[in-house]
Amino acid sequence: MNLIHKDVKDVSELTLKDGAMIIIRSYNQKDLSSIYEIERNCFSESERYTEQHLEMLGEFKHYSFLVALENVGHTIVGYSIGVIKSTREGKIGHIVSVAVHPNYRRRGIGIGLVKELMRQLKDAGPTYFRLEVKMTNKAAREMYRKLGFNYEYILRNYYGKGKDAVLMKMSA
Ligand SMILES: CC(C)(COP(=O)(O)OP(=O)(O)OC[C@H]1O[C@@H](n2cnc3c(N)ncnc32)[C@H](O)[C@@H]1OP(=O)(O)O)[C@@H](O)C(=O)NCCC(=O)NCCS
Repeated sequence: MNLIHKDVKDVSELTLKDGAMIIIRSYNQKDLSSIYEIERNCFSESERYTEQHLEMLGEFKHYSFLVALENVGHTIVGYSIGVIKSTREGKIGHIVSVAVHPNYRRRGIGIGLVKELMRQLKDAGPTYFRLEVKMTNKAAREMYRKLGFNYEYILRNYYGKGKDAVLMKMSA
């Protein structure tokens, strides 16, 4: 991924497996409705963020919130959110969410969004990265495994009764 400079925000160009070019840049408020549209297409009603919640995450200065744009149309096709948490174990990079619109999947955008997120969070010096993923979410689990995350333990009923999550970790 090459880093190019545009305005004041970091902008990365990502060449996908099929040769297409994707831009990854920081979220801004104008992106909100497109991000919410992706959220609605990617998560069930009980599991998705509300538009207000996404807006709030976008306003938190300590969060990294990235969007992926299809280069030609400048259409927003995915997003990733992460944050550095200070814990008794030291600083931890938490992958909060990632989603790619169903029409743009399996092209490397999800991996690109998480890699870029981790690159940015690494500047704060976390000792490791952590995330929770629904046990039944094979696509996301496989993506994180491919990135180098390992399974740690199961979080029973994490997403509601009978909906377990698995905690995954990776050294920074
Ligand atoms: C998970 C998600 C972000 C992956 O996005 P994506 O752009 O399709 O991911 P990538 O193309 O970068 O895939 C990377 C790897 O992940 C794995 N993977 C992705 N989708 C998969 C699927 N449906 N089944 C099995 N493995 C899958 C594969 O190993 C893939 O590599 P490959 O295509 O070379 O085989 C996307 O499926 C999504 O938005 N899901 C709904 C939202 C969600 O569940 N988010 C995660 C919450 S923790």
